Amino acid sequence: MERLTTASSVRFRLREARKAEQVIGYVPTMGALHEGHLSLIRQAGSECGTVVVSVFVNPTQFNDAADLEAYPRDLARDAALAEEAGADLLFAPEAGEMYPEGFQTHITPGALAKPLEGHFRPGHFEGVCTVVAKLLNIVQPDRAYFGEKDWQQLKVVERMVLDLNLPTAIVSVPTVREPDGLAMSSRNARLSPDARERARVIPYLLDTAQELLESATTETRTDSGPVLRQWLVSLLESHQPAAQVDYIAVMDPETLHEINEIRDRALVAIALHIGGVRLIDNRIITAPPR
Ligand code: PAJ
Repeated sequence: MERLTTASSVRFRLREARKAEQVIGYVPTMGALHEGHLSLIRQAGSECGTVVVSVFVNPTQFNDAADLEAYPRDLARDAALAEEAGADLLFAPEAGEMYPEGFQTHITPGALAKPLEGHFRPGHFEGVCTVVAKLLNIVQPDRAYFGEKDWQQLKVVERMVLDLNLPTAIVSVPTVREPDGLAMSSRNARLSPDARERARVIPYLLDTAQELLESATTETRTDSGPVLRQWLVSLLESHQPAAQVDYIAVMDPETLHEINEIRDRALVAIALHIGGVRLIDNRIITAPPR
């Protein structure tokens, strides 16, 4: 695996792959790689001739300086893991390479970026869109892989690629979970043993949401969305009253509008602070056929 730090060297190196008519797959990350990232890299490897992985802790998508400061960085470890998972090229630029002096052009996403993470992390998706557009322009991949763990990010990026005619197919990859159901995240390492135990409430709520939707009473209700949401809020209060809730939402998975009647599918999205660590997760729940 080759390691590159400049945009021009990535372009130059990928010229050969393009000449050989190889499909170029790309996995953007902020490093601190775990099994979730590695499943994206492996899927890219199974579908593409050349796999590019980037590691860049993008400062513009952090609305909290302390959060950016605390972000784990270990490039040697990330490089070893990426290579083992099948990456051919690792792009790890410095901040100055991505944001040279005088940088002043940003991408502002629309309505999809407003609720959920957009509401609680102002400016976050502007930062994500700007860096993802830049990275896609540098790598110019045929396919770029994004995790369903960050469902809203996936939808915002899909929309941006459509709106800006970027010539890359966005491929979504299911969330990889710990054996007890907790979604893999670089933030999990910050959980104390006690908080780690309490974090199990998140997958518990998501699984219960599916079970509740399957129960006959909700199936026919015109307000099944808000009713389900309220049940989940009460369930959290009884199981983990100390957890601080940013949101528990039941939404249309494509528009991210809140839904009243769940006809076929709904997105249940959750953001909680547990033991001082902010965790997000989601699940698509499906109603039984009527
Ligand atoms: P990062 O948080 O490093 O995540 C990189 C990719 O890995 C994202 O597409 C994310 O959804 C995916 N991912 C994270 N945890 C996952 C899990 N448990 N299962 C499956 N996929 C998972 O998301 C970002 O970085 C940044 O916003 C980025 C897109 C790189 C732009 O800076």
